[in-house]
Amino acid sequence: MIDLHNHLVRYVVKLPVHATDPDMEVAVQMARIAEEDGIRTIVSTPHFRPERMGDEAARMYDLLHSAVDTLNEELQRRGIQVEVLTGAEVAMSEMLPDLAKRKLLPTIAGTRHVLIELPQTTYAPWAEDMLFKLQLKGYTPVIAHFERLADAPVKHISPQVLHERGIKMQVNCESLMGRRGRSVQDLGQSLIREGLAAGLGTDAHEPEHSPPLLTTCRPIVDRVGGRGTFDHLTTQSAATIIGR
Ligand SMILES: [Fe+2]
Repeated sequence: MIDLHNHLVRYVVKLPVHATDPDMEVAVQMARIAEEDGIRTIVSTPHFRPERMGDEAARMYDLLHSAVDTLNEELQRRGIQVEVLTGAEVAMSEMLPDLAKRKLLPTIAGTRHVLIELPQTTYAPWAEDMLFKLQLKGYTPVIAHFERLADAPVKHISPQVLHERGIKMQVNCESLMGRRGRSVQDLGQSLIREGLAAGLGTDAHEPEHSPPLLTTCRPIVDRVGGRGTFDHLTTQSAATIIGR
């Protein structure tokens, strides 16, 4: 299985925005939990917030990539059968087209797919325009946990319309389980039901309260989307996003 959204790399190096002290043992513990769940590929998606980086974008970009190398070396050394791919959860910003031009947009595994976090507290009427601009530059936005926009000011953005425009949407397992409230759960399930989800993520932040588990939502995904939906979303569908 492929986990499209995971924050474990914040335990590998000190990253701006993340108020976490690095601790490789925690990252390894998370990889072990994932491995036991049947996850073989994790996309590393630490927060990447252009508005808060100033002129640190290049340094942050390099850091994200070197941290993944370091983590993979450690996992190999310990015989853990999990591969971590580069990426980031890129916050929507009017700076994205410029970062793309400067080749500083951290894409998923070096593909043209980029995991984008839409604003959850501000209206940002320009957000859809930015997505379109990225597409014009040859990128395919993958909206991170689209279902979490259920109560956000940008909830007017229609998943059907995005889908028709070739934009992909990732759904969090925890949302489907109801951990983010009823409206988020409902929207997540409707994305699965209507075939608008392109893949699943654990959005794991730490081993205990936010672990990297996907199989916990297998029953609900297959109940809502039909038999085989979970396997499809966690293998073939996600594989097209990581370029495999
Ligand atoms: Fe996240």
